[in-house]
Formats: sequence, C-alpha cells, structure tokens
Amino acid sequence: MNKLNLTSGFLLLGFSDLHYNHVALFLTILVIYTLTWTANLLLISSIILSAHLHTPMYFFLGNLSVVDISFSTVTVPKLLSCILHGRAPISFLGCLLQMFFFLFLGTIESLLLAVMAIDRYLAICNPLRYTSLMNCKVLVMLTCTSWVAGALHSLLHTYVVSQLTYCEDRLIPHFFCDLTPLIKLSCSSTTLAELLIYTIGSMAVIIPFLFIIISYVLIGCTIVKMKTSSNRSKAFSSCSAHLMVIFLFYGTDISIYFRPPSDYSSQYDRIVSMAYTIITPMLNPFIYSLRNQDVKKALKKLIMQSFSQR
Ligand SMILES: *[C@@H]1O[C@H](CO)[C@@H](O)[C@H](O)[C@H]1NC(C)=O
Repeated sequence: MNKLNLTSGFLLLGFSDLHYNHVALFLTILVIYTLTWTANLLLISSIILSAHLHTPMYFFLGNLSVVDISFSTVTVPKLLSCILHGRAPISFLGCLLQMFFFLFLGTIESLLLAVMAIDRYLAICNPLRYTSLMNCKVLVMLTCTSWVAGALHSLLHTYVVSQLTYCEDRLIPHFFCDLTPLIKLSCSSTTLAELLIYTIGSMAVIIPFLFIIISYVLIGCTIVKMKTSSNRSKAFSSCSAHLMVIFLFYGTDISIYFRPPSDYSSQYDRIVSMAYTIITPMLNPFIYSLRNQDVKKALKKLIMQSFSQR
C-alpha cells in the first residue's frame, strides 16, 4: 500500500453503469446550467446597478448568486464530459481541488441561506429594530464569516482525505469527487474522516437548518396575525416557496451525508446529488428574487437603458 503520488489519478464513473438516454440528459443539464448562469448574472447585475436594491437582503442574495454560479461550475463541466465520454479521468490534485471547492461553496450556501432566513425574520417580525440591527458592519461581518467558515470547514475535510491511502481501485462511482465516495474508496483507516463528517460536517448543515426552521416558524406566526388577507397570502406564498428550495437543498444533503455507512448506495447518491448540485443553484434566483416586484422593476429599467443607449 504505497501512498499515491499527485500525478496518478482517478476515474469518474459518471452514469456509465446505468441505462439512460445520453442525449436527453446532456441537453437537460446543459439547459439547466445555462439558465443558472443567465438568471444569476441578471440578478447580480441588477443588484449592483440599481441603488434601491442596495439593502441587506439583496447583498445576501447577490452573494448567494455568486455562490450558485460557482457551485454549479465546480461539478457541471465534468459531469457533461462524463456523459459524453462515458467515464472521465481526473488527477488526484484535480479531485482534491474539486472536493475543496464543492465543500467550500456548499457550506457558504448553507450558511447564507440561514443568514437570509434570520434577516427575513428580523425584517418581518421586528421591523422597528431591523435597520439598527442589520447595519453595515453586521452585514459585512455575517457575509465574511460565511465565506471564512466555509473555507475552513472545507479545508479540514479535504486535508484529512488528502492523507488517505488509495490502492488499485481508482474508480469513483460518482460524477464528481465527493467526500463519501472518496472515503469509501480508500484502503487505509477512514475512522477519522468519517467521524469528522458525523460531527463537524453535520453541524455545518444541521445548525443552519435549525435556524432556518425556527425563523420561518416565527415568521409564520407573524403572518397568521396579519390584518389584511392579501398581505397574508402574499407573504405566505413567498415563504412557502423559500421553504420548498430549503427542503430540497438540506433534505437531499442530509440524506446523502448523514446516514449509516452500511446504507451507502452510489446509484441513489448520484441521482439525489443532482438536486442540490444542479437544481438548487438554478432555482434560487427564481424563488428568492426574480418573482419580486423590486427586482422586476430594476431589470426592466436595465433593459430599457441598454436599448436607449444604442
Ligand atoms: C456580498 O456581500 C458583501 C458584504 O455584505 C457586499 O459588499 C457585496 O456587494 C456582496 N456581493 C454581491 C455580488 O452582492
């Protein structure tokens, strides 16, 4: 069992052991990926260019869009090449880098969703104190904390996996270098790596998730007490849309990483992973922002301006 040097790598299995329609899957993922870039870029540019969108909520949404674009770019190009060629080779270093960025961006996404839920809770349930609580300093601190915590959390897992030994079996039954399949593949002791997933890894998902659930329960209580029913149904519809993407992201995430190792199924993992690696980054801008009147107005103005300048 000699330690793997950085030049010899792995082979990503993709979906080549499953029967499926290659063309249909390729095109579907390509369309979703293009939509992800377009929607998130539109959102980022309208937030930057419209002064009335310079509020805490839109700073968080802008950051979320940057994360969403990068998060899907970490996995989708390799996935598309997997579908085209059957299997895709990846170097050991490439694999670790992919895993680092995947966990880094995934953690930030999880933390940002929680910060945004708390922000909405303060804005809806505590509107009088909202502006003093969410000031510029707090805003920058919360966003920076999310980015730094994401980097440290990812570095920890990536470092531990980089110290594992890999023997003859170099076939990763997945479409990207994810934590669990790499740990499964190792022929050295993986106790520490698994322990880290169940302790620190689960905290990074479950704590933000609890904050979100508590925030939305409190928001729900305030909505029920609202006087006008049109306000109530508007608030209710936007909150239920938020909850839907939140359950899609955290539900699939929790079902993949935090279950007994004996329940491991690469087929289930690959199909369910698609939900949070590809679908959530596309849905976020539509669910959180593009249905919003303020954003629609800002977009319309942007489009008008770009035409009138010609
Ligand atoms: C991300 O958040 C920071 C700090 O709140 C803010 O300065 C920055 O403009 C945000 N980025 C985007 C693209 O909105």
